[in-house]
Amino acid sequence: MPIGVFDSGLGGLSILAALQKKLPDQAFIYFGDNANAPYGPKDSDEIFALTTAACTRLFDMGCDLVIIACNTSAATALHKLQTEWLPKGKRRVLGVFVPMIENLTRRNWGDNAPPTHTGLANVALFATVATISSGAFPRELKFRARDVLVEGQACPGLVDAIEAHDEAGARLLVNRYVGAVLERFPKPQAAVLGCTHFPLVRDMFAAALPPETRLIDQPDIVADSLADYLARYPHFAETGTTRYLTSGDEAAVSAGAARFLGRDARFAAL
Ligand code: DGL
Repeated sequence: MPIGVFDSGLGGLSILAALQKKLPDQAFIYFGDNANAPYGPKDSDEIFALTTAACTRLFDMGCDLVIIACNTSAATALHKLQTEWLPKGKRRVLGVFVPMIENLTRRNWGDNAPPTHTGLANVALFATVATISSGAFPRELKFRARDVLVEGQACPGLVDAIEAHDEAGARLLVNRYVGAVLERFPKPQAAVLGCTHFPLVRDMFAAALPPETRLIDQPDIVADSLADYLARYPHFAETGTTRYLTSGDEAAVSAGAARFLGRDARFAAL
């Protein structure tokens, strides 16, 4: 069956591009909930309702494995979705947060041993307002790593500036948010771009952060993690192509896809 990949809109295509590169023969169905984007400023109940509705749509199309490629959904809704909503059985929903944390803490998938000293002392997280206020990143990190300080920085407006191709506005915001973190914490050991849109302004973050800060690239980490998962659960894999679906305007969404995917994609309405 195809693997479902869900995001609030176009940003998850930056994750999908890495998945397709790593698993070129795998069939995917990408669903962007553009009619309801952005999720970042929404409250957790609304994000949970939208995320479960999107998963239901992908399940109904035959996807037994769904990747929540939206950090805001994964941070806000995934834990509750997995523990309280997902019916017991063959279906699985995975997010983009845990692979990143496993990479940071050098853990293998599903290694739930008690937290250890990982060599990571501090990390800056740049993400949407909802992701930061969910507390999911420090919670999952501290579950695996001892004595690590997380400096979370909400980045309101940055998703909108990136979507609007407003380069000057995006640079201004990146400099402001990185500056705010550096004021509190001058030399972060690592920085995580915990939002699907931020890889598009990676260079701006790299320029604003100290050169010794390790910048974490989420798409490749998620792709490695999915390849590893499929090696252990090969029944989720199926050869095929990718279908692109949106709850928004097909033409407008198709026109914006190439910036995130690296090539054109034709979206159909769902
Ligand atoms: N996809 C979202 C994320 O990764 C960003 C866009 C939104 O706010 O919906 O957090």
